[in-house]
Amino acid sequence: MADLVALLTDRLAPAFASVRDEVCAAAGTDPAEVPAPPTVSRSDRADLQANGALALAKRLGRNPREVAQAVLDRVDVADLVDEVEIAGPGFLNLTLSDGAIAALTRTAAGDDRLGVAPDPDAGTAVVDYSAPNVAKEMHVGHLRSTVIGDAIVRVLEHLGHTVVRENHVGDWGAPFGMLIEHLVDVGEDEAVAELSVGDLNRFYQEARQSFDASDDMKERARERVVLLQSGDPETLRLWQLLVDQSAAYFQLVYDRLGVLLTPDDIVGESSYNDALAGIVEDLDAQGLLVLDDGAECVFPPGFTGRDGQPQPMIVRNRNGGYGYAATDLATIRHRVEDTHAARILYVVGAPQRDHLEMVFAVARMAGWLPDEVQAEHIPFGNLLGADRKMFKTRSGTSVRLVDLLDEAVERAEATIAERNPDLVGDERAAVAQAVGIGAIKYADLSSDRVKDYVLDFDRMLAFEGNTGPYMQYAHARIRSIFRRGEIDPATLDPSALALAEPQERALAVALLGFEPIVRQTAETCQPHRLCGYLFDLAHTFTAFYEACPVLKADDEATRASRLVLCDLTARTLATGLGLLGIQAPERM
Ligand code: ARG
Repeated sequence: MADLVALLTDRLAPAFASVRDEVCAAAGTDPAEVPAPPTVSRSDRADLQANGALALAKRLGRNPREVAQAVLDRVDVADLVDEVEIAGPGFLNLTLSDGAIAALTRTAAGDDRLGVAPDPDAGTAVVDYSAPNVAKEMHVGHLRSTVIGDAIVRVLEHLGHTVVRENHVGDWGAPFGMLIEHLVDVGEDEAVAELSVGDLNRFYQEARQSFDASDDMKERARERVVLLQSGDPETLRLWQLLVDQSAAYFQLVYDRLGVLLTPDDIVGESSYNDALAGIVEDLDAQGLLVLDDGAECVFPPGFTGRDGQPQPMIVRNRNGGYGYAATDLATIRHRVEDTHAARILYVVGAPQRDHLEMVFAVARMAGWLPDEVQAEHIPFGNLLGADRKMFKTRSGTSVRLVDLLDEAVERAEATIAERNPDLVGDERAAVAQAVGIGAIKYADLSSDRVKDYVLDFDRMLAFEGNTGPYMQYAHARIRSIFRRGEIDPATLDPSALALAEPQERALAVALLGFEPIVRQTAETCQPHRLCGYLFDLAHTFTAFYEACPVLKADDEATRASRLVLCDLTARTLATGLGLLGIQAPERM
């Protein structure tokens, strides 16, 4: 096990509990009411810091430094820790022993999974992400959902979760009357041709224009919706055409982006149609339904509108139609009852927060979302242009995702051609692809997702700073050491690893931070933590490499040991980037 944080937490926890129990017994309080878990984290002062004494002391009315000392008196960590210092209000600064660090690093180096063991009891997680809308161009908001969701999927899978990807595409609702009528007007062949090349914007806009311009079209669209909802076979056939063409186009984008989504992951809104009537019936039977201005609504407690009035969630409108909210209730029910999800993650833009919070609240009221199932909204901010306004083209329309990807890859190819003229042909094209797409993904993933971020091609494609190309280059540079030395990393012996220089020790400590950061990333669904870790690791490696010659080390043993450190660093960078959905080319 490479996870020193978990190891130390396990050792310290009983000592904290024992101090708590003793004080509680003396004071006659119930220890069950005083939680006392220590938290161990990386620290600038020492290798690690254990917190918890302060919180415990506050609860017990004791001096925090005394509590910290009492914990220390009861714990034996001498095999892992050389020095413990009580600092500030009861922090424990832990300096790890070189022997423990070296032993754990050897274990990680000898393990394909770098010491990150999958948890056999990890439950099923549903990740709802991407979710573009049929016959509408995917926009940059869908890009963020797709990239962030995909990283979360990979991290959870890596830790042993059974992950079910669900692409909740918008494939139902009132606009389809208009879209189908437009399809009929344009002619099927023409429409298919437009949609298959991804001209979804034009198709949608033209449909909209003809709808706005003509009362006849409005009437036809209205009738078409009725036909669609009543299951008219010809209407369904036309609808399916729109869905299939769009899905094929989405798949082209996913393949370009290198995300895991496949056509099988599409579980569109329409797939819940048959469940909607049951949703309303069950809510009614539970007495949760309220008739409000002709619409059937639920009022979950705690939700108020701008006017301070209770906010309704409309499950069925006054015309008898079910909407987005009813569909999401059916969806959550399906995910709990049929998929048996323990955790349901919605990677959806921040503006849908209220909607999702209400869906969760109503599902809990109705008993469809039991307490032990976690439903979480994973929101993200907007993508902004250089002017800090919503990212748009010069003409003001929203930018097509594919055009963004093309531009990134083109620019990457130009930079690579300049930096490394030896890289030619297919390999150069493949590297440009990896770097261009990687740059977009890394730029998205490396900033705290809830914040807006500015799309800046120059910055994200730079080889310096916390960027995709920098991380990929850090990896390729280590691989080049092996090429220069004509060494096959597979022949390295992890037991050769020894830590003598402070930079070697620092690198090993950084490498051992991989497992905790992967777990934290899974818990918080914050890929920027993993990015930050990888960036620090690359820096720590640079400091090591400047101070410690590898191929020209003084003796064979030192050289062998340093090569193990180099290889483990390269593998950690490549694995980490892989968890973000980013490739790590061998050469750049
Ligand atoms: N299709 C929706 C949109 O483009 C996103 C769907 C998100 N998922 C969900 N279960 N509501 O805004």
